Amino acid sequence: MATAMVMGTQWGDEGKGKIVDYLAQKADVVIRSQGGNNAGHTVVVEDASFALRLLPSGILYSEKTCIIGSGVVVNPGVLLEELDGMRARGVRISALEISTRAHVIMPYHIRIDEEDEKLKGDAKIGTTKNGIGPCYADKINRVGIRIGDLMDETVFSRKLKQNLLLKNRLFTQYYGCEGFDYETILKEYLAYAERIRPFVKDTNYSANQYIKEGRKVLFEGAQAAMLDLDHGTYPFVTSSNPTAGGACVGAGVGPRRMANIVGVVKAYTTRVGAGPFPAEQDNEIGDYLRRTGHEFGTVTGRPRRCGWLDTAVVAYAAMLNSLDYLAITRLDILDGLDTIRICKGYMYNGEVLKEYPASLDVLEKAEPIYEEMAGWKEDISHCKTYAELPENARYYVERIAQLVDVPLGIVSVGPNRSQTIVLH
Ligand code: GTP
Repeated sequence: MATAMVMGTQWGDEGKGKIVDYLAQKADVVIRSQGGNNAGHTVVVEDASFALRLLPSGILYSEKTCIIGSGVVVNPGVLLEELDGMRARGVRISALEISTRAHVIMPYHIRIDEEDEKLKGDAKIGTTKNGIGPCYADKINRVGIRIGDLMDETVFSRKLKQNLLLKNRLFTQYYGCEGFDYETILKEYLAYAERIRPFVKDTNYSANQYIKEGRKVLFEGAQAAMLDLDHGTYPFVTSSNPTAGGACVGAGVGPRRMANIVGVVKAYTTRVGAGPFPAEQDNEIGDYLRRTGHEFGTVTGRPRRCGWLDTAVVAYAAMLNSLDYLAITRLDILDGLDTIRICKGYMYNGEVLKEYPASLDVLEKAEPIYEEMAGWKEDISHCKTYAELPENARYYVERIAQLVDVPLGIVSVGPNRSQTIVLH
């Protein structure tokens, strides 16, 4: 492996953290290229569980270089809190690099996120209210503040002043709330700057240099294909591109460098917040999956919407990402079901849809086409090899690979590193 990439194929929370952590064992460098602290990974090492929000999962291995790439949006306060938390639990932070080009989440981004969601009422997106979207919006509007700006007091104070002039007007005149005090933010952020300065560099150069030197580089995706700003179920998406192309852009590495693109597929489907979800099971099956899979938001505790696996979604994600193989996670959650269904496409207006619909109206009315198969009764969480899996479980994962037309690479039967069956 020169490079490998891990991408979510559904609506997030597929268990990418575990797969990244597993593959990171063989990597020298782990890069995050998009998103911010809205994407939490959970990694279980032996009996300890680590909730990572912004730091790449490779941080748990002290000898690996971890990069927060140019496409990530960084809340420096959250980052420092996470670093302190890791250190307090004995994780040695040695080789962390933060891109000088990454954008900085400011307190006004968080407030805009909150106020916007309030104003939208029923049309709200269900954001995590961490200021991610407004920070990306400023980047696109070319008024954002980058980590490199934060490192230079003169530049930072000028940009902060310019931003507050506009933003405070927005708060008082449009949202009807108070604005922010320049001196307070300046002091807070300059203090952050001093603490993160040792990690800041032009990671576009270091990432490419590592690849050139033959070091093994793992690109860690956050969120998932259906949340992609351009290709997902817009507007119920995130503000960045969590697909393979987006990882190239966000890391500053060209597509020719990319290989081993792994699509993480949860063995069933979940979705947080609003938006169409054809295979949703708003019934006892959905309740069962939610209960058994503990499908509740990590931060908010909100119940996640649950449904059968939808291979129309995964096949679309496979195309967008040019996936090389699949990592199917949480197969153990299906233990004990008499029958299992796979949604393998949709009917719309009496016809089978040949393409994943771009229109949410079509998707809303699309009727899932299911294939039913027998489940398994055994507890598979102790299976160490593919052969040990019950025949019906093997049939299920093989059928997924067949419907999606991507080979199986990994089957995960529990949260621990040891509960990973590797086929590829
Ligand atoms: P986002 O980047 O926010 O989309 O998150 P993610 O895809 O990294 O998912 P995350 O790791 O936060 O959540 C998945 C949860 O499932 C974690 O608690 C994992 O420890 C757990 N998990 C991962 N794989 C398996 C598995 O095969 N079986 C079980 N039972 N749990 C798993």
